[in-house]
Amino acid sequence: MKGTQQATDWYRHPAYYEAIFGTDTTKEFDFLEAMHARHGNGGRRWLEPACGAGRLIEEGARRGLTMFGYDLSDEMLAFARARLTPTLRRRVTLTEGDMATFFNPELEGRFDVAFNLVSTFRYLDSDEAACAHLRNTRRLLAPDGRYFLGFHLTDYARSDEETERWKGEIDGAAVDCFTWEGPPDRKRRRAPMTNRLRVRGPDVNLDINTEWNFRTWSSAEARSLFSRTGFRVLARNDFDYRPDQLAASDRLDSIFVLAPSEP
Ligand SMILES: C[S@@+](CC[C@H](N)C(=O)[O-])C[C@H]1O[C@@H](n2cnc3c(N)ncnc32)[C@H](O)[C@@H]1O
Repeated sequence: MKGTQQATDWYRHPAYYEAIFGTDTTKEFDFLEAMHARHGNGGRRWLEPACGAGRLIEEGARRGLTMFGYDLSDEMLAFARARLTPTLRRRVTLTEGDMATFFNPELEGRFDVAFNLVSTFRYLDSDEAACAHLRNTRRLLAPDGRYFLGFHLTDYARSDEETERWKGEIDGAAVDCFTWEGPPDRKRRRAPMTNRLRVRGPDVNLDINTEWNFRTWSSAEARSLFSRTGFRVLARNDFDYRPDQLAASDRLDSIFVLAPSEP
């Protein structure tokens, strides 16, 4: 085989993204359903901002829910559409949209649940964009709807680097995923991120190196944001995905259960 191919945007390669992040889908959806039973209205119209390659959208449709997802990436949306059987497709709407601006007056008040789990919220790189996203999502929710919003809070005292590694497999190819987060810059409210996906198989030899900055949110910054955008925090769980386990105060991985506090 020829030398290693290089690419720079993991979201242009949804199959490899899913090989790594698709493995927890059942557990995550079990958690969402249990949290909805505990905190929500039991309704069956669910919204996923930044739905990506559609693993959770598909899972929800399989469980009989009516799912609506939007994302910025054409490649991710195409993958999401292609994975649905005709029966599932009848329960799913997918469209292009930006978390910073997405709103549709025809959908106002229509969703029982919105969810956004894996730190995607941190792509919103300004206070203005984060506020707009939360205000618009609140208007899309029914008055008793809930937003399950999962992301890592930032400890500004951290000066070391954080790394995580996962391994996956697809069509006989090994996928190795390495994520690095640099120390936060408190003034600029940013932390540098790098993701390196290495795909090695009989027909593929590809390195995908993606770099971006994530917005930082301390616990106080996040709670102030929620109250400024008309949300109350009902609970904070963590990425163990256990409905009966609230996040310990020293844990930064957080799933906030948000309830509209005003129309
Ligand atoms: C980590 S993936 C998560 C996908 C999906 N929610 C999941 O759990 O598998 C992040 C997704 O966010 C999308 N994204 C990033 N910034 C966005 C924005 N401003 N608006 C909409 N989608 C965005 C990317 O295209 C990508 O599909």
